[in-house]
Amino acid sequence: MPQLIVALDVPDREKALGMARELRGVLDWCKVGMELFTLGGPLLVERLKEQGFHVFLDLKFYDIPHTVARAVAAAASIGVDLLTLHCQGGERMCRAALEARDAAARASSAPRLFGVTVLTSFGPGEMPGVTANPGVFAHELASAAAAWGLDGVVCSGHEVRAIKASAPALRCLCPGIRPGGTDAGDQRRTMTPAEAVRAGAEYLVVGRPILQADAPARAAAAILEEMKAAPLPPSPAGTR
Ligand code: C5P
Repeated sequence: MPQLIVALDVPDREKALGMARELRGVLDWCKVGMELFTLGGPLLVERLKEQGFHVFLDLKFYDIPHTVARAVAAAASIGVDLLTLHCQGGERMCRAALEARDAAARASSAPRLFGVTVLTSFGPGEMPGVTANPGVFAHELASAAAAWGLDGVVCSGHEVRAIKASAPALRCLCPGIRPGGTDAGDQRRTMTPAEAVRAGAEYLVVGRPILQADAPARAAAAILEEMKAAPLPPSPAGTR
């Protein structure tokens, strides 16, 4: 069953912990992004883990290989379960991150590494220096991520089928998820929860449609119901 991850994009630590408490028992994963990690740091990750959540640290690392490897080791040391780095950081950066993760795995648990392909907020022609359609470019980056050995990629739901066709073992984590009738906001390449599950996504990231709902736990539960009701695509044995 694909996982629902709530993006805790809120402006302070107490609000984040309050929202997590409200969602405990409904879903198992929280995403800590740039805003919240800048405010709450490792202590916040620790508190979320104490509440029983898996933590996805979405800092989208993009730097020289050495710096990214050190950041991955640091994330592993605070118990992060999954983190992101940009595929555009290239092969040496991604392989250095994997080596750091594998070294951490020998000492303790270690995060899954997911490569960001093309942000779901980019529409055609908006990426500086890239003339390819965002979907085509995302597919190229995902193929590279698979060759380098990353565990998965972050992509829009629209790209999942093509990515799975060429790299079936690569997990797909999709933001830009919008239940019917909710506002897309700054997102461009959106999908409903059911559409993303049908396409084959393993992780769905949802922020504002849960955070801004009158009853966040009810909104999250409704998304989960929609996900459960959606038929999973056929998958080659051993890839789920
Ligand atoms: O509020 P919304 O559901 O649009 O939140 C989506 C979350 O997923 C945000 O935290 C955003 O940073 C993140 N994200 C994204 N697109 C990516 C990678 C991460 O929207 N490619």
